[in-house]
Amino acid sequence: MLNRQSAFATFARRIARWQRKAGRHGMPWQGTRDPYRIWLSEIMLQQTQVATAAGYYQRFLQRFPNVNTLADASMDDVMRHWAGLGYYARARNLHQGARTVMARWHGEFPRDAATIAQLPGIGRSTAAAIAAFAFGAREPILDGNVKRILTRHFGIEGDPGRSAVTRCLWTLAEQTLAAAPANLDITAYTQGLMDLGATVCTRRRPRCDACPLKSSCYARLAARQEDFPARTARAARPERNCQMLILRCEDCVFLQRRPAAGIWGGLWCPPQYDDRAGLAAALDDWGTTLSDARQLPPFHHDFTHFRLHVEPWLATIADHRPAEPISAPNWIATTELRTTALPAPIKKLFAALFRDINPPAADSAEYS
Ligand code: ADE
Repeated sequence: MLNRQSAFATFARRIARWQRKAGRHGMPWQGTRDPYRIWLSEIMLQQTQVATAAGYYQRFLQRFPNVNTLADASMDDVMRHWAGLGYYARARNLHQGARTVMARWHGEFPRDAATIAQLPGIGRSTAAAIAAFAFGAREPILDGNVKRILTRHFGIEGDPGRSAVTRCLWTLAEQTLAAAPANLDITAYTQGLMDLGATVCTRRRPRCDACPLKSSCYARLAARQEDFPARTARAARPERNCQMLILRCEDCVFLQRRPAAGIWGGLWCPPQYDDRAGLAAALDDWGTTLSDARQLPPFHHDFTHFRLHVEPWLATIADHRPAEPISAPNWIATTELRTTALPAPIKKLFAALFRDINPPAADSAEYS
């Protein structure tokens, strides 16, 4: 281990200076101090890459420019603007959080990290990032990128998934910040940690030559970059199967809104069945049969805790049941699918099936 105290003293200063020179600039959420915008960006970026988040961020803000409009919106409207981003609990938490900010703080976003962390879906690190970017609060962050930087730089062995190691890393995050000069630019430092982890201190093949910490990094000096962070022993992802019914009648498709809790919560989906017997029974209800349906190519989708294998079937019926008139909200015109809150894999499936649904052109942007 290198002399920790001297490494602490220069750590934050080097990162902040590096960020100004070589970090990412011009991302849509930079250059603002509006806590609502920063909150939104940090939530989107929790599980989404910068390039994907950028387009969603801008479209979301066009529709919900402030906490007030988000709080007043319907869940369905919020979901429509989140559809395709995944991890839909984030959208539900944002919506709920906006209502909390209106009800509890009269629309005024809280300024300190501990209060921000009371909002749903916000952990200590995200709260610290929001407080730092919006209010200049001197708070440490500790996301996956920062864990990698700290474990490498300070040679922390052990799985960061273990709570004892996480505690040790939080202490290091606090100590490095405490040892930094009083005039540290906390925005550049916080963004610098994120940028360094994303662009230089990457999981595989880190670009150590470009790193502002190269002279003091334990992993680099010991040529053990690949050993940090220690790999988390992960259980195999369980697998589940389902049959999915894409039911057409005239130019409409039958969809159901999924319950708020659970996978694809709040989004619109074709009905799913555990097995072919369930599917066959449903087809029978609609006055058709499995042999009249067309089997489509199977696909799978990975959720955090399991992999879902989907066998989709396309069935076309000439007549809808009287109980489900074509004007019922479950029958959606294919021309409306583009603006319906659909999970990304369903949107992709529909895009291949129905020509009327063309996903909006992805905003592409590059950030230096
Ligand atoms: N990931 C989380 N927050 C981020 C930010 N502000 N910029 C880039 N990537 C991020």
